[in-house]
Amino acid sequence: PALPLADTLGRPLRDLRISVTDRCNFRCGYCMPKQVFDKHHEFLPHADLLSFEEITRLARVFVGLGVEKLRITGGEPTLRRGLETLIGMLAELRTPDGRELDLTLTTNGSTLAKKAATLKAAGLKRLTVSLDGLDDAVFQRMNDVGFPVADVLDGIRAAQTAGLGPIKVNMVVQRGVNDDQILPMARHFRENHGGGVVLRFIEYMDVGATNGWRMDQVLPSSEVQRRIAAEFPLTPLSHSAPGETAERWAYADGRGEVGFISSVTQAFCGDCNRARLSTEGRLYTCLFAHRGHDLRGLLRGVEPVDDGQLASAIASVWGGREDRYSQLRGTAGAAAEPRVEMHYIGG
Ligand code: GTP
Ligand code: 5AD
Ligand code: SF4
Ligand code: SF4
Repeated sequence: PALPLADTLGRPLRDLRISVTDRCNFRCGYCMPKQVFDKHHEFLPHADLLSFEEITRLARVFVGLGVEKLRITGGEPTLRRGLETLIGMLAELRTPDGRELDLTLTTNGSTLAKKAATLKAAGLKRLTVSLDGLDDAVFQRMNDVGFPVADVLDGIRAAQTAGLGPIKVNMVVQRGVNDDQILPMARHFRENHGGGVVLRFIEYMDVGATNGWRMDQVLPSSEVQRRIAAEFPLTPLSHSAPGETAERWAYADGRGEVGFISSVTQAFCGDCNRARLSTEGRLYTCLFAHRGHDLRGLLRGVEPVDDGQLASAIASVWGGREDRYSQLRGTAGAAAEPRVEMHYIGG
């Protein structure tokens, strides 16, 4: 395929997010609500998951098309058996001009105390932990399985000790549910963990079809920022990478930074360079897509395809990409079809 690759809006392909399992040990109401994901829910059978060899082969082809960053997601990715083997395989990939990739992972932190050192040794470069509050009552209501805050904080410390820093912590803010945790979270990560954690606030999004999203549950980032700045003055920072999701602000007193991911009130589709590979090998060109493109079928078909053919197939999907859901949200241009579930393409 002709390089550099760009979609119909001129956006390059730089970031591949790979979901390695549709399972999770949490039941966050905004992602896998308990009523839907109960004991009757059928998760994917093992044979449907991409194997580590298949994931690595696809990742290599994506890297040939311009991808420079790999993020492993889930569900909860650390629940995938043998994950460190996959990380080791992905860590060996190089860009066409010989550079290492940015190799990272998004986790709920529940297994880190046990696994951080192994993940680092396998070749993971850095890590993002989801944490929605510091108060146990609030956090346990959100994860809905009674998981304690202290264990996630221990996991973050284990990751720092293992050398996986600088760590990012993502907090999804839901008005009336955990917005009283904004200041405690800001204060905690300014004053603890050696200042080595970057906290980012995410606007609650209308992903998937099961979380019953309503606009009045969204606390706009402008309001989150106002509350923080009233306590801890902030000064703006510039983007650290093109297509970045977060707006970055530094604490004026020099004690680190915070970020705001404002997909609802300030869409960032304009330079979105992210592709998503689902657990079963479908390529999604938007977090809000209603269908993916089956790559596993190409890998497992009776007619074997070579890497060049895979690259052409991916390039043609990306070349036709028009997605900008967050920009169109609420307008006539926004598709009404059911959207893919978050736990299945990893956020
Ligand atoms: P860094 O490279 O560490 O900055 O990571 P990132 O921000 O690219 O990835 P991360 O998984 O930390 O993203 C944080 C959250 O932002 C996700 O969980 C989603 O809620 C949201 N997000 C990430 N990418 C997109 C996107 O392309 N569109 C929308 N609407 N939201 C996104
Ligand atoms: N809105 C915003 N972020 C979400 N995530 C999952 N569901 C949502 C949602 N409805 C994100 C969270 C979590 C990551 C795995 O996915 O950031 O940290
Ligand atoms: Fe699990 Fe993350 Fe979804 Fe919560 S947001 S249910 S931790 S995948
Ligand atoms: Fe990218 Fe879709 Fe998110 Fe817009 S809504 S930033 S196009 S993933």
